[in-house]
Amino acid sequence: MKVDGKAYRSIWLATDGWSVEIIDQTKLPHEFVVVTLTSAEEAAHAISAMLVRGAPLIGATAAYGMCLGLRDDPSDAQLKATAELLINTRPTAVNLRWAIQGMQKLLGPLPPSERVAAAYKNATRICNEDVAINSAIGDHGLKIIEDIWYGKNQKGVVNILTHCNAGWLATVDWGTALSPIYKAYNKGIPVHVWVDETRPRNQGAHLTAWELGKHGVEHTLIVDNAGGHLMQHGEVDLCITGTDRTTASGDVCNKIGTYLKALAAKDNNVPFYVALPGPTIDWEIDDGIADIPIEVRNSHEIEYVSGCNSEGKIEEVRILPKTSSSKNYAFDVTPAHLVTGLITERGICAASKAGLAELFAP
Ligand code: MRU
Repeated sequence: MKVDGKAYRSIWLATDGWSVEIIDQTKLPHEFVVVTLTSAEEAAHAISAMLVRGAPLIGATAAYGMCLGLRDDPSDAQLKATAELLINTRPTAVNLRWAIQGMQKLLGPLPPSERVAAAYKNATRICNEDVAINSAIGDHGLKIIEDIWYGKNQKGVVNILTHCNAGWLATVDWGTALSPIYKAYNKGIPVHVWVDETRPRNQGAHLTAWELGKHGVEHTLIVDNAGGHLMQHGEVDLCITGTDRTTASGDVCNKIGTYLKALAAKDNNVPFYVALPGPTIDWEIDDGIADIPIEVRNSHEIEYVSGCNSEGKIEEVRILPKTSSSKNYAFDVTPAHLVTGLITERGICAASKAGLAELFAP
């Protein structure tokens, strides 16, 4: 996607051919800062401190983290240690495990002298494949937006609600939930996005609003609890969110608060779609509520709010009495029966075992 006229992905190889560049998402929307990663430790920090975030981008960063970790020492012991370091950065997004285990499977049987080149080749392939997957998700999701637009006799605007950030910043490019929106906008369909602010990290306010604004898509920031009210008043035609892990039976884990949006959508007959890249399916589990590990992050994130002061400096202020405690759940699970459909790179399917199996049968 373009930022001020220049095309960017969210992660890329530097011109030296080995170090890795990312956009520091903790600084957006106030500052656009590119950070260079030169070691597996730096890649692990970028994931755990959320300089990069979003399931597909976490997977891509971990893949490059494996490359960086093996550069000086491609031994079996280092392969195992690097994988362990990276896999322990964040627990919920399954793309992390998918990317690291894929690397281990590929590199393990190779002689150490061949591992670094093979690792870089595979990390680059993962990134390019992610872009193609998300573009295809956009093409399939576009049809849903088009149907709504024609259903409105091409009058007014298609109002879409999204939660968190599942745009190009959360992937390598295009995004998952935002990809159909970009495709609709590019096609001239008038779309307007209700952007949930997404406390506590405010990925909606900081990232989704920034991305949509850079692309020219009309959008309005709302507080996390406003969606139900808007749906009751016919202000939402469609919800699309991303996912960090979806089970083989279609239960969807996504940023905390997604479940409440799905409940409100069901009560108001608003279609609730989830944009799902294949690598985000966890084929090993069926029951999302029982089996998906939900990240509990540092309470500091909810006890303080951060923003830009009048001098343009990012600062934070405490909002909780010092004597009160807090708990920072980062994700929740939306059961499959609340999901209208899954928009995948292979087409749209029911959020069910049969639906997913039909599209992804081996
Ligand atoms: O904690 P984050 O910012 O890594 O979480 C990302 C999300 O939950 C997004 O909603 C996203 O949809 C999943 S990745 C496309």
